[in-house]
Amino acid sequence: MSDLDYATRGAEGTDRETERGVAETPPHRSGLPVVGSTVAASRDGLDFTEEVSSRGDLVSYEAFGTEMLAVFDPEVVETVLVSENDAFEKGEFEMSFGDLVAPEGIAFAEDERWRRQRTALQSAFTPDKIRGYADEMVGHTAALCEDWGDDEVVEVGDAFATLTLRILTRALFDLDFDAERGGVVREATDAISVMMDRFGLLSVLPEWVPTPTERRYERAMADLDALVEELLAEREMGTDPGADAPERDDLLSLLVAAADADGTGMDREAVRDQLVTFLFAGHETTATALTYTCWLLAGNPAVRKRLDAELDSVLGDRDPEFADVPNLDYTEGVVKEALRLYPPVYALYREPREEVLLGGYRVSGDTTLQLATYNVQRDDRWWDAPDEFRPERWSSEAGKANDDRPEYAYFPFGGGPRHCIGMRFAMTELQLVVATLARRVEFERVTDELDLSMGLTLDPGPVEMRVRKRGE
Ligand code: HEM
Repeated sequence: MSDLDYATRGAEGTDRETERGVAETPPHRSGLPVVGSTVAASRDGLDFTEEVSSRGDLVSYEAFGTEMLAVFDPEVVETVLVSENDAFEKGEFEMSFGDLVAPEGIAFAEDERWRRQRTALQSAFTPDKIRGYADEMVGHTAALCEDWGDDEVVEVGDAFATLTLRILTRALFDLDFDAERGGVVREATDAISVMMDRFGLLSVLPEWVPTPTERRYERAMADLDALVEELLAEREMGTDPGADAPERDDLLSLLVAAADADGTGMDREAVRDQLVTFLFAGHETTATALTYTCWLLAGNPAVRKRLDAELDSVLGDRDPEFADVPNLDYTEGVVKEALRLYPPVYALYREPREEVLLGGYRVSGDTTLQLATYNVQRDDRWWDAPDEFRPERWSSEAGKANDDRPEYAYFPFGGGPRHCIGMRFAMTELQLVVATLARRVEFERVTDELDLSMGLTLDPGPVEMRVRKRGE
């Protein structure tokens, strides 16, 4: 028997394969004629997926013009992402998102084209490179704290997006992004996020209907394209402000060089799309993660106290540096736990290349698998008190619970060959930024309830917090 037709345990703990035999179709959540569950799924995707999850570990439904199969079983997640990853591709549903953002970029490329791009880009993310980015991460965070006044109420989502975009462009592109350039990327991010929130509804509207959402998106992407062209031209001509550096090996230079070289699978269009991919993937995700982390810390004083104790003992009265990261265990637990409760990438999508048996069910080649990160990471079969913020579950003392849990009960960075290329960058950034912030400020919640929605990332809605400067 192949890995694909292994038996999985059903919600009641029954062995689906022996009880019902393989090759049944999964439970189905029926919807309305023609549009299926599109309206329900796009109105409140999180509630909808939660409702779907009560019907089994693999549940099909029709939405967005396609047959969807929601997956809540960590073993099946592992099969799709890791052990049988070759049998799956990103597929049409994911590509329709890709078309909105950067269709030729690494996140949507397949097969040999993807492999060559991944190899070419990997060199920007080696441990040595990340060590070199650490000071920027700390320095920009310290400057942000300087800008805040004591008792000021801040919308932290925006503040963190500006921060992470600054860190990203400095580290990966060797550029200082001024407010104007930052604004272009932020507007494009927001326009895409709104577009994706409405995506389900747009997919059942006739294509020619012009909507304000679509017009905003078109405008924002035109501005972003102009900015990207400007960046590439500046670097090609060596006219950008940092051009006096003798030899540059940042990601932007690598991309410009790749555009002319054979063997990378990147033409000019792909290079433009890589740049856009990294601008989005590299800042919105970490900004969202920071927003959730700080909001959770503000609501959990005991966790905050333990974090402060660790920072006092490891750092004393200095800022963190790269070499401290392995010693900041509790800080790492805080970040991992925030990524468990609020994974910025809340679901992954794949299509089988042909019909497969999955979790004991027959799944046709045109089905879109929705690997439900948000739901799996809050499933009480794998997590005690799943909705509670408990960073200590990541400590070495919690060993047994962690050992018993299936590996893919937690996958905020995906898994297998296509796992997040920026994972190490992101984890280093999150730990260093949280440590730098915590040394300088405390946050008090002004926004008590988050207004979660499925945008480009898991969107918390506006999050206001009062900043209290420490030691003032
Ligand atoms: C908390 C922060 C982040 C989270 C939660 C996150 C999550 C993810 C996930 C889940 C995937 C896999 C998508 C899939 O399999 O369909 C992914 C892919 C990717 N991420 Fe991240 N990411 C983060 C930060 C970053 C950063 C900082 C960068 C770049 C600097 C980045 C660049 C990428 C790229 C380029 C891919 C596509 C990789 C490929 O297809 O080979 N991400 N990310």
